[in-house]
Order: sequence, then structure tokens, then C-alpha cells
Amino acid sequence: MRKSVTWGLALACVAAASAATDGASANEMAAGQTVFASQGCDMCHAVPAAGIEAKMPALKAPPLPGSDAPTDEWTTSFLRGEVEKDGKPHAKKFTGSDEELATLLAWLRGLAS
Ligand code: HEC
Repeated sequence: MRKSVTWGLALACVAAASAATDGASANEMAAGQTVFASQGCDMCHAVPAAGIEAKMPALKAPPLPGSDAPTDEWTTSFLRGEVEKDGKPHAKKFTGSDEELATLLAWLRGLAS
């Protein structure tokens, strides 16, 4: 009994893996978008390439990915509240893990290219 359950799970995993034709990259892209939404970035920022509209466009945040395409290092520090842009800190500090932030930035980078 126990053995057949294990096999069933293994087969399900293989099926799921081959169903996602773009493999890991498609999953990573979806994960980045999930972090974006769960951190409330879409309150202020639209992401036109992903069909995301800003919930509060009156806040006038630039659409992402931003046009001046800074490095991931800079964006990480900016979103952590460690560096400022034009003399101002970012409106909201990123409160998730470093891993989530990296996933988010990889997603934005993927949309920019
Ligand atoms: C309360 C509104 C608000 C929220 C929420 C918000 N941002 Fe921003 N963000 C801004 C504003 C306003 C700017 C423009 C700052 C400037 O140019 O000085 C900005 C700038 C940026 C930039 C720089 C873009 C560029 O081209 O200059 C990035 C990247 C960014 N935000 C990412 C995020 C991410 C990721 C999240 C979610 C963790 C997020 N923002 C949440 C308001 C917000």
C-alpha cells in the first residue's frame, strides 16, 4: 500500500514536470509574479509586459521593469531601504526573504529582455 502511494506521487511529479514545456524558467517566472503580488508591489506599480495594472495609479509609481534598468544589486539595496533614488528612499520596504527578492528581480529582468 505504502509503496504504491509513493509510486503514484513519483509518476505525478514526472507528469507535472513534462507538462510545463518551458521547464523551470516558466515556474520561476510565475513565482516572481506571486512575490510581486504578495508584497503589494502592484498597489503602486503596473507591469505592462505581464498585464498587471497598478491598483492605485494616482500614486504615480513608474511601470516596471523600470526604463533606467539599474543592476540587481542596486535594486536589492533600494528595495531594502539601504540606498536612495534622487535623494528619496523607496516608498515601501521589501519585507520578504532574500530568496524571494532574488526571484522577484529575476522575473522583472526576464520581462525586460
Ligand atoms: C506605495 C507605493 C509603492 C509600492 C507599494 C512599491 N513601490 Fe516601487 N516605487 C514607487 C515609486 C513612487 C517609485 C519611484 C521612485 C523614484 O523614482 O524616485 C518606485 C520605484 C521603484 C523602482 C525603480 C524603478 C525605476 O525605473 O526607477 C523599482 C525597481 C521598484 N519601485 C520596485 C518595487 C517593487 C518590487 C515593489 C514591491 C516590493 C514596489 N516597488 C512597491 C512606489 C511604490
